Amino acid sequence: MSLVKANSESIQQAAEIIKRGGLVAFPTETVYGLGADGLNPIAVAKIFEVKKRPSFNPLILHIADKDSLEKFSPIKNEKIDLLIEKFWPGPLTLVLPKTEIVPDIVTSGNPTVAVRMPNHPIALQLIESCGTPIAAPSANKFGHLSPTEAKHVEKYLGDKVDMILDGGKSSIGVESTIIQFHENEFYLLRPGGLSKEEIENEIGKIKTGKIDINKPTAPGQLPFHYSPQTPLKFFNKKFLDKNKKIGALFFKENKIDFPFVDVKLLSMAGDLREAAANLFSHLHELEKSNLDLILVEPVEEKGLGRAIMDRLRKAANKLK
Ligand code: TXA
Ligand code: MG
Repeated sequence: MSLVKANSESIQQAAEIIKRGGLVAFPTETVYGLGADGLNPIAVAKIFEVKKRPSFNPLILHIADKDSLEKFSPIKNEKIDLLIEKFWPGPLTLVLPKTEIVPDIVTSGNPTVAVRMPNHPIALQLIESCGTPIAAPSANKFGHLSPTEAKHVEKYLGDKVDMILDGGKSSIGVESTIIQFHENEFYLLRPGGLSKEEIENEIGKIKTGKIDINKPTAPGQLPFHYSPQTPLKFFNKKFLDKNKKIGALFFKENKIDFPFVDVKLLSMAGDLREAAANLFSHLHELEKSNLDLILVEPVEEKGLGRAIMDRLRKAANKLK
């Protein structure tokens, strides 16, 4: 039985679990989160495995003090400072440019990271005790309602997490409001526990439409779904052209006799969790090699393999 009443002892145990790369469901004022060490890519991959999402989705990093934001985002902006001053801790998530230390699997390869400081003493004590930001989506399986009580988490994820910290009902009961700061404007990405009006009272009008992707912007700055800029295809002999600079992404070993310019393996051990943890960072590195084409080996579509294939297909479909 992994459900325990939160007290200083169980919170300490939960922190140890997180530090060792395990999963802990914990209460916040919005909904319960399914938490892992946000700086440990393998631990974060476990979150996707347990949620059974057929695709990757960027995760929110939960922090316990306002000052630690600077470790995860380099941005300095007066309006952001105002928002933090006024609404943290609380149900407001900020999507900002990320620093190097944020693993690509946390942001699904995006150059931005979502950060929030929850307004819940148990969550804050847990994050503080771990000494690491906690990456956490809502603690439900894909397609189910977000949990606002420990027993909801237990029902759906009871046997999949190392511990569920019971901190009673979430007082707000809906997810945090998410806004993104992009080229000096704020965009509402998800309405939630903090109203748009309250935000606008502090910083003026924010935009609700999609971020204008036609506006020229820095490469890779387009919101939400990262996909490599270099053409990417699934392996097929017909693509093996020696006049082209071709890179390859294999699952566990290089099976093809061809002078690839760059070769990356997702997991030498053939482990899907490790493969997921490496996926976005390997794609980024292949992209940096200035290739004409990236060829990828399909992985088996079971467990995390589904989300990996979803991401690879999206990247392959981008360029017809
Ligand atoms: O209240 C909440 O926000 C809860 C508690 C646990 O903190 N968490 C939560 O997480 O709702 P999740 O993963 O269920 O929803 C987070 C949303 C996702 O829709 C994701 O796409 C978006 O945040 N998101 C995260 N990082 C993003 C990014 N870099 N750019 C755009 N959207 C992002
Ligand atoms: Mg969710």
